Amino acid sequence: DRSLKIAPSILSADFADFGREIAAVEAQGADWIHVDVMDGHFVPNLTFGPPLVKAIRKHITTVMDVHLMIAPVDPYIDAFADAGADILTAHVEAGPHIHRTLQAIRGAGMKAGVALNPGTPAAAVEPLLELIDLVCVMTVNPGFGGQSFIGACVTKVADLRSMIGDRPVHIEIDGGVDPKTAPLVAAAGADVLVAGSAVFRGGSVGDPAPYGANIRAI
Ligand code: DX5
Ligand code: ZN
Repeated sequence: DRSLKIAPSILSADFADFGREIAAVEAQGADWIHVDVMDGHFVPNLTFGPPLVKAIRKHITTVMDVHLMIAPVDPYIDAFADAGADILTAHVEAGPHIHRTLQAIRGAGMKAGVALNPGTPAAAVEPLLELIDLVCVMTVNPGFGGQSFIGACVTKVADLRSMIGDRPVHIEIDGGVDPKTAPLVAAAGADVLVAGSAVFRGGSVGDPAPYGANIRAI
């Protein structure tokens, strides 16, 4: 369904060939590029930080959608702005001052997103609606690619869709998105789908056509 934006997660790309991987997936039809930043503390895995985001920026022209799975967030906001992030998403669970964090992200010139873990209700977003451009609904527990979609999160998407109303706020789904689960969240009101393993499977920088087929199949 091409009214949906597909945001491939580079967590499933070949880390030894990031520049070419990202350029390839963009050329194959990615709408946004989703970048997963993990700190080994908020989530039980480590990835990369602002210097790598900055290096990636030179290889793509599309929207760079940076998902922070880190705590604290505030000390790093300016570094991600300097690195060229277009959208910076922080978890509502990452600290006591998400409201301040979202103000600071917009203050640094980026669009602001808020992410919800599977255990957090939609109501957590209600006080933040005027501060955000995107809600990221996690449909796996964050930390790793390739996990199974948690179906119980779909009702949360529908709740958010009605809560958001006419506001220009994207609903993004992250975790376990594939051709089977995508229609469920699209029907519930999501408009941006992150997909890692479902996009990068079967292809490589030398043979990127499967990336395009995988994107179109979602
Ligand atoms: C999970 C990350 C996701 C992940 C999705 O913590 O936030 O973006 O890469 O991977 P798949 O699509 O394989 O579930
Ligand atoms: Zn993510």
